[in-house]
Parts: sequence; C-alpha cells; structure tokens
Amino acid sequence: MDATKLRRAVARTRLAPIAGFPKRLARVARHDATVLATSARWLLTSREHHNYTYDLTRLSRQHLAWFVSVSCDAPVRQVRDWFAELEGDDRLRGHIEAATAAASRRGLADRHVRYARRVGWYAIVRARRPAHVVETGVDKGLGSCVLAAALLRNAAEGHPGRLTSLDINPEAGYLARATPWADVVDLVIGDSVASITALDRPVDLFLHDSDHSRVHEKREFEEVEAKLAPNAMLLTDNVTATNVLAEHAERTGRRFLAYRETPARHWYPGDGIGVAW
Ligand SMILES: C[S@@+](CC[C@H](N)C(=O)[O-])C[C@H]1O[C@@H](n2cnc3c(N)ncnc32)[C@H](O)[C@@H]1O
Repeated sequence: MDATKLRRAVARTRLAPIAGFPKRLARVARHDATVLATSARWLLTSREHHNYTYDLTRLSRQHLAWFVSVSCDAPVRQVRDWFAELEGDDRLRGHIEAATAAASRRGLADRHVRYARRVGWYAIVRARRPAHVVETGVDKGLGSCVLAAALLRNAAEGHPGRLTSLDINPEAGYLARATPWADVVDLVIGDSVASITALDRPVDLFLHDSDHSRVHEKREFEEVEAKLAPNAMLLTDNVTATNVLAEHAERTGRRFLAYRETPARHWYPGDGIGVAW
C-alpha cells in the first residue's frame, strides 16, 4: 500500500486523532513561534505602550484602497496615488520624526513614522474635499497631522478646509502644533461631547477616535448629528470593537461599510475604519 492509501485508511479508523496529532502540533507551533518572535522584536525595538503604529500588509493596503474608492466614489488608481502622496511627503515625515525626538514623552514614542489605516483617512479627505473636519481623540497628533496634510493639499488645489481636533488631555496634539499643519488645525481641549455641542460651524467629515466605550462613541454620533452639513460623512476608528456607527447609519438612513486593517510585522491585531454616508 502506498503512503496516500495508508493515510486514507488510517483516517477512517479510531487511530485518526493520534495519527493527526504531530501535524496539528507542528502547525500551531509554527504559528505561535511567529507570534513570539514578532512580540519579542517589538518589546526590544518599540517604545509604544498604546495607540501603536505600524505599516499595513500589501493586501490590507489594497483592500483599504478599494474601501475608500467605493465609499468616496473615487477611482481606485487615484486613491492609491493619494496613499503615495502622503507616504512621499518627506516634509511631514521629517517634522514628525523631529517633533517626536524632541517631545518630553519621547520615551514612549517610536521615531519611525508609520501611518497604518490613517492613509485611508488622508485619501478620504482628498476625495471629499471637506470644508470642516472634526477628529475626536488626538493623542500625539499623528492623525491630526495626516488630516491637516490632506487639507493643505486640497487648499493648494482651491478647496480650503480646517480641522477641529478634540481631546480631553491638555498634553495631546504636540505633533500638530507646527506650521504649516497647525495653520489649518484648531485644537480644543475638553470632553469631546461637550466640545461637539459647542461647535459653531457645520461639519463635513466627522471621525470618532476618543473614548472607545460604546456609550461615549454613541453619544458623539448623536451629538454631532445636529451639526452636520448636508451629505456629511461619519467615520469611526472603533469599528472592530462596536457596531455603534452601523446602528447609527441604519437609524439615520445612511449606508455603512467596515474595513479591518492587518498590521505587517506586529503582534497587534489592528483596528479598522467604519464609514457611514
Ligand atoms: C486612540 S487616541 C487618539 C488617536 C489619534 N486620533 C491618532 O490618530 O493617533 C485616543 C485619545 O482620546 C482621548 N480621549 C479619551 N477620552 C476622551 C474624551 N471623553 N473626550 C475627548 N478626548 C478623549 C485620549 O486623551 C486620547 O488622546
């Protein structure tokens, strides 16, 4: 009997689980070894303790390009060009590296710039050309810089816009305090729901990325509703954890899509972008 016939014969007997065990063990050990190696490299080379930064896998980038293309009705080629535009912005990259190195909390930040799903935020701003973007949750200000860079490009093409960035932490946003990015950013310190209530200009693009509890995310979307411009777009950075934006979209008669990112060479499983429009 040849090996294949023998395997098939054993598979039909009570010995099958024992015979299959070495192969199953090898598979899970290979997987766990990769996770352990990635985790060990991260522990030794990164300083980040939250809001991790990483690159996306090639496949994840491709899916993100199509996600933006469909939700913004923009050609996917153009979306890829916008990704490249952000990643080729050496002035922005140089500023983020230098500001990170000079920051008082540099011991908890990586100098190397990796935008992950924020390239999607950038492309959405380039596609929609909003006059007013609101981002809740700023942390160091990496997302604010990315959104501001897109607004500056839009302005150079005749479509100016401003970003209102909301955070409860007075130390937030140190990356977004330099010219030219700061020229289009209004940083507001306080609880995001109260700050949304106080907004005095219509919002064309809203991004939730603050307190990721279900209750807070829901309150932000409910509160911003009265402030939205016609055809505004809503984004959430919390889509891998809650269904809040999908439920809000259904209640308010919008469409909804979710993208889940895959980080390259990182133990973190990644976040995502939810969009309602
Ligand atoms: C995930 S980080 C934001 C990341 C940022 N958007 C980026 O692109 O890197 C979450 C931020 O939300 C802020 N935050 C938490 N609760 C908040 C609240 N109730 N109002 C406003 N900001 C809040 C935190 O201080 C923290 O800086």
